[in-house]
Amino acid sequence: MRLKLEEADKRGEVSLEETIERRKSRRSFQRTRLTKKQLSQLIWSAEKAPSAGATYPLELYVVLGEECVDDIDAGVYHRSAREYSELEMHKESDLREALAIACLSQMFIADAPVSFVIAAEYERTTGRYGDRGIRYVHIEVGHVSQNIYLQCEALGLATVAVGAFYDDEVARVLSLPKEHKPIYVMPVGVGGRYYRGLFKRNL
Ligand SMILES: Cc1cc2nc3c(=O)[nH]c(=O)nc-3n(C[C@H](O)[C@H](O)[C@H](O)COP(=O)(O)O)c2cc1C
Repeated sequence: MRLKLEEADKRGEVSLEETIERRKSRRSFQRTRLTKKQLSQLIWSAEKAPSAGATYPLELYVVLGEECVDDIDAGVYHRSAREYSELEMHKESDLREALAIACLSQMFIADAPVSFVIAAEYERTTGRYGDRGIRYVHIEVGHVSQNIYLQCEALGLATVAVGAFYDDEVARVLSLPKEHKPIYVMPVGVGGRYYRGLFKRNL
């Protein structure tokens, strides 16, 4: 199943400086659904990151819960490499809780309506740059993550970059192809007041 994304807005309501100033990691999410427009905007921001030698090693997976985004069924979606404006259904069912458990039981991930899982196919970059390509891939994920952080801030949404997870478990839960290695997980949603899970010091 394919899902057409909406055109992203190129003018926001807050300045870049405000988003940089206000950005912080937020780990509490309300059970409020996101709009397809917000989801499209976030995916657009993730795509707008630089890539070493334009090798584009990253693959974006989107984990959606039941009734979490307008008119979109629960499941794991993959941003198609052929058609950037579309998402392809990769796996059915609401896997947020299993994803949260694979992330060292950081259960706030299960509350967020949407989680982005950024995976990499290293070979695309190491094929050109050798071992140095590994460094480039990791730098690139940071660029994508920062764009998502800032776009969330501009939309008034909450997110946090999660690097603590069992790689094999995340890959198994999402049934990732073996060459797609998960590097970062970013739960996104309307921020809530309360927080559950690990990392309490960063409330
Ligand atoms: C590489 C990396 C991995 C991270 N992993 C986690 C994580 O697994 N869980 C979490 O709650 N926060 C995680 N964070 C978020 C940091 O805890 C957070 O950025 C830091 O406490 C600073 O707070 P701020 O983002 O609000 O400025 C991670 C951040 C980075 C850069």
